[in-house]
Amino acid sequence: MKIQRRILRPSEVLPLIGKPDFQKSRIERRLERCASVGDIRELARKKTPRAVFDYTDGAAMSESSLNRARDAFAHVEFTPRVMRDVSQVDLTVKMLGVTSALPFVLAPTGFTRMMHHGGEPAVAAVAGEYGIPYALSTLGTTSIEQLAASNPNTRKWFQLYVFRGREQTQALMQRAWDHGYDTLIVTVDTAVGGIRRREVRNGLTIPPQLTIRTLAEMATHPRWWLNALTTQPLEFASLSSSGGTVGDLITKVFDPSVSVEDISWIRNQWKGSLMIKGIQSAQDAVIAASLGVDAVVLSNHGGRQLDRSPVPLEILPSVVKEVGKEIEIYIDGGVTSGTDIVAALAFGAHGVLVGRAYLYGLMAGGYAGVARVVDILEKEIKVTMQLMGVTSIRELDADMVRLRPF
Ligand SMILES: Cc1cc2nc3c(=O)[nH]c(=O)nc-3n(C[C@H](O)[C@H](O)[C@H](O)COP(=O)(O)O)c2cc1C
Repeated sequence: MKIQRRILRPSEVLPLIGKPDFQKSRIERRLERCASVGDIRELARKKTPRAVFDYTDGAAMSESSLNRARDAFAHVEFTPRVMRDVSQVDLTVKMLGVTSALPFVLAPTGFTRMMHHGGEPAVAAVAGEYGIPYALSTLGTTSIEQLAASNPNTRKWFQLYVFRGREQTQALMQRAWDHGYDTLIVTVDTAVGGIRRREVRNGLTIPPQLTIRTLAEMATHPRWWLNALTTQPLEFASLSSSGGTVGDLITKVFDPSVSVEDISWIRNQWKGSLMIKGIQSAQDAVIAASLGVDAVVLSNHGGRQLDRSPVPLEILPSVVKEVGKEIEIYIDGGVTSGTDIVAALAFGAHGVLVGRAYLYGLMAGGYAGVARVVDILEKEIKVTMQLMGVTSIRELDADMVRLRPF
């Protein structure tokens, strides 16, 4: 059949020509074209020196703890219900007594100003904007006070590593409480620092050293270096380091003898909500609950500590069964999409902590990059829930999800 053609008039073509929105910066426009956390990860890889990207992206030894956690999420299968009104969806969750607009928290991460000079204040600003909690790490590069001053309206949690000296530990807790941090997260999976091979291979030390290799790097990432060298010096806000990897520092500064007595001591000192992060078995979850904590995070530190540790998603149902009625159970590790978050909630998690996903955003574009990641996760959670036929987080349950055999 002969196709009938017509002459195109310019007035028809002109409206079809896309115009860049010059109100937005170049990086904002680039971020808009990222459709997933994976796309943002690739942008982050281009924007940062290799040692910085690898520090964030990497995990311990064979990296199997992280890879297995991601693999478990990939094996999730939902059982959707249809013929239901899903026009309105409520994504809020009450976390330790306060409503969070979304069912996830921006996890504590050390050395955040290395990823981007905007650092912790930029991440906390996004958390405030979206109405979710932000957890500042003991290994943060912004002090408890600076973060509180820059983000007075963000809900702030403080992550504590127990120092060898208890006075130092107590002083940090006091400062966090005095500056409005309502939840203390005590991380217990770091008796010693994990072995992170990428850091050794890249020669990443804390503070970063200027070597011939790093000077050569400057040529490929001049903007990152300019920002790093002309803003507040890159150092930990709560402790000083004299070289070595982050793993070496953890081993040197933090106390490997921390036991249940120390958690009881912290419980007595801390007036706010208390969360234990790094629980990897139902037995330890039961012990934590018996110590009067309010929540646990099933976590293997995003695979950065013990290689071949249990996959948090896989131990979640047994922990929910043991202590789910007594305390709130959170989970983290390997989350790269809103679908992963919905899966964790359906398996019984009260909420999810997200680490690398927002750090990729930070490396890719500072505040705008983190905001883009939260945006993507929010949309993915909402659409997944709608397509599953549920309109609130409470409706998600274990009947709607299963792990396909590996
Ligand atoms: C670069 C980086 C630094 C981290 N630093 C800390 C830390 O200082 N304290 C802590 O409790 N957890 C730390 N974590 C672990 C996170 O809080 C969280 O458990 C983990 O990132 C979750 O896995 P995901 O990154 O796959 O989401 C860090 C994780 C990353 C990726």
